[in-house]
Amino acid sequence: MHKIAVIPGDGTGPEVTAEAVKVLKAAAAKFGFKVELTEFDFGGERYKRTGELLPDSAVEELRKFDAILLGAIGHPDVKPGILEKGILLKARFALDQYINLRPVKLYPGVQTPLKDKGPNDIDFVVVRENTGDLYTGAGGISMKGTPQEVAVQTAIYSRFQVDRCLRYAFNYAQKHGRKSRGKAAKNTLALSGKTNVLTYIYDLWERAFHEMGQKEFPEIAREYYHVDATCMWFVKNPEWFDVVVTGNLFGDIISDLGAMIQGGMGIAAGGNINPEVVSMFEPIGGSAPKYTGQGVINPLAAICAMQMMLATLGEDKAAAAVEDAVMFATANKIKSLQAGRMGYSTSGVGDLIAERIA
Ligand code: IPM
Ligand code: MN
Repeated sequence: MHKIAVIPGDGTGPEVTAEAVKVLKAAAAKFGFKVELTEFDFGGERYKRTGELLPDSAVEELRKFDAILLGAIGHPDVKPGILEKGILLKARFALDQYINLRPVKLYPGVQTPLKDKGPNDIDFVVVRENTGDLYTGAGGISMKGTPQEVAVQTAIYSRFQVDRCLRYAFNYAQKHGRKSRGKAAKNTLALSGKTNVLTYIYDLWERAFHEMGQKEFPEIAREYYHVDATCMWFVKNPEWFDVVVTGNLFGDIISDLGAMIQGGMGIAAGGNINPEVVSMFEPIGGSAPKYTGQGVINPLAAICAMQMMLATLGEDKAAAAVEDAVMFATANKIKSLQAGRMGYSTSGVGDLIAERIA
C-alpha cells in the first residue's frame, strides 16, 4: 500500500493531476498494488481565502506519506514569490528534498526545436541540488528606495549539502548510466559549474566531486563543463550527456533549457527527492491560468511526474508501462504537445494512457 498525498493546486493543476491519478489507478489495477490517496487544497485559492500557505502542521502531516504528487502552484491574483516561497520552496526545504531530478528525454513523435536531433540524442538527466545556493534567502537590502540602495544575496553551500547531492548523482550514474555517453566508454557523471569565476562555491563542488569520484566511484568517468558551455552543448551536442549534476540556481536554469529541447512544458516533469523521508513530484509547467477549465491543457507532464513517483516507490514495472504508454501516445496518437492542439482533450489524453496500460 502506497500512501500518496495529492496537492492539485492552482489553475490547470487540478485538471492535469486528475489525469495523473487516473493513470495511477490504472497502473495499480494492472500491476496489483494498492494506493491510498489523500487530497490537500494548498494553493492560491486557499491562500486568498484564509491567508494560509503551507503551515508547519501540514509539513508534519506530509512527512508521513510515501510520496507527494503536486499539480501546480501559482495564481494570477497573488504577487509572484509568495506562493512559490510559501508553498513550493517551503515543502522542499522543510522536507529537506535535497535533489531536484529532471529527466530530459525526447519521446518518439515529439518535436524538438533542435534540427537533426532525435530521441537517441536527447536523453539525459539533470541532478540539481535543491536546498542551498542563492535559494537559501541569505542577504538583504539596505537604504531601500534611496539612490544609495544596496542589495546583497549570498550563495551558500556546505560540504555536507554538496557531498550528499554528489553521492546521489554518482549512485544514479552507476545505476542508470549508459557507457555510450560521454567521452570515455564508461558511465559518466558531468559536473556543471563556474570554477573560472565562482572560485569559492564551485571550487568546493569541484574538489568534492573528484574526491568522492576517486574514492567511492572509480568506475564512473568524470567530466566538467562550465555552466555557460553546458547551455551551448545541450543545444549543439545533447547526445554527449547522460547524468549532469549541478548547484541549485544553475540547475534551475539548465533544466528549463532541457525542458525546451525535450518538447516543452507539455512533457517536462521533475521530482524533489529526499530518499530518506518523502519525495514530491511535479510537472514543471506551472498553473497556466489562461487555460483553466477548458479541458485543453496537456496532462502528459503530470502523468510523467506520476511515472517518476512510481519508479521512486519501487513500482518499476508499472513505471515502465506508464512510460511505454506515453511513448505510444506521442509516437502514434497525439498531434502536438501544445494546449488545444493535441487532437484530444485533457481527459482524452488521460484515457488514452490509462487504456493502453490496461
Ligand atoms: C522550479 C521553479 C521554482 C524554482 C520556482 C517556482 C520557485 O522554477 O521548480 O524550477 O526556481 O525552483
Ligand atoms: Mn525552474
